[in-house]
Amino acid sequence: MKLLVTGGAGYIGSVVVQQLLAEGHTVEVLDNLSTGHADSILGGAIWHEADLLQVGRILDSSFDGVVHLAARSLVGESVSHPERYWHGNIVATLALLDAMREAGVPRLVFSSTAAVYGEPAGASIAETDQTMPTNPYGASKLAIDHMLTAEAHAHGLAAISLRYFNVAGASGELRERHDPETHLIPNLLKVAAGEKESASIFGTDYPTEDGTAVRDYIHVRDLAEAHLRALKAAVPGTHEIYNLGTGTGTSVRQVIDAVREVTGREVPAVEEPRRAGDPAVLVASGQRALDDLGWQPTRDIRQMVSDAWTALGSDTASPDAASSGTATPTAPTSAGGLA
Ligand SMILES: NC(=O)c1ccc[n+]([C@@H]2O[C@H](COP(=O)([O-])OP(=O)(O)OC[C@H]3O[C@@H](n4cnc5c(N)ncnc54)[C@H](O)[C@@H]3O)[C@@H](O)[C@H]2O)c1
Repeated sequence: MKLLVTGGAGYIGSVVVQQLLAEGHTVEVLDNLSTGHADSILGGAIWHEADLLQVGRILDSSFDGVVHLAARSLVGESVSHPERYWHGNIVATLALLDAMREAGVPRLVFSSTAAVYGEPAGASIAETDQTMPTNPYGASKLAIDHMLTAEAHAHGLAAISLRYFNVAGASGELRERHDPETHLIPNLLKVAAGEKESASIFGTDYPTEDGTAVRDYIHVRDLAEAHLRALKAAVPGTHEIYNLGTGTGTSVRQVIDAVREVTGREVPAVEEPRRAGDPAVLVASGQRALDDLGWQPTRDIRQMVSDAWTALGSDTASPDAASSGTATPTAPTSAGGLA
């Protein structure tokens, strides 16, 4: 297939591009580098340095589909500047849908998020559960899910939304390089590497086994594989939604233990109060993705930490690492939030 990957210079997008190329697809990347990195765009893919609003200049009828990962995805920023999320996610995706319709591009796989569910009713979240996002980021992704349902019904688009849980790990040298980094594992690894003094555990009094928040971590390589399956499974005129997680919960303390074990470093962690809006447990039911896509993740939390640690080591000599190399005194580490 000939595919456009929006956000292909980002963490997850670069791994999706890697796997699409390995499977023999023709890949073009659209990315404005607002949070991505030019050196994450793999040779073999054509890169358009452009904003989503300009996607109409790139898409034509030769494309078989779009994998749409480009988005703003900072929960905190979405609360303080919601307008950035309505423009950057909703309006930009509308421009994409307009361009796809005009060019006759038939299929779309979209990066949605578990943040659309808000505070879950039960421990294991199914796609049929109520969606009540607690922040504009989650609301913007849910609005796009609704847009896709209507677009599929009205205009025949073949659409699939993939609702990611907590994505982690690396694929070779392709790893998380968010700024600010709000995710638990990369922040713990910064502490292990000596770039930060300590990490924070937000909440030690949750009704969980060890008192810390439990999340469903999914390896970025397993996650990327689901996109390849979704591209093949998408049916014209329908919009399907799949949760992507492992179905296994891991507590913040268990993640810290895994980081200590893999790195052999101490990794000091400071206990802090809960953050508002952080649920105790968020775990996906992966049954639907297994039934419909035949997708089942295989990599565990240790593998995620180990691959991310190896990738961090391989990067220490890069110009990026050299320019941002000095240790910061404290590390406000996210220990549970969903992006
Ligand atoms: N990382 C996670 O744990 C997680 C969890 C749930 C959902 N998601 C979703 O997955 C997607 C990818 O996340 P990521 O962690 O790789 O983020 P990322 O910031 O590394 O990648 C996003 C990419 O999109 C590009 N981009 C953003 N807005 C753009 C625009 N208007 N035009 C062109 N390019 C634009 C950025 O430059 C970046 O390269 C996002 O849609 C995010 O909401 C991520």
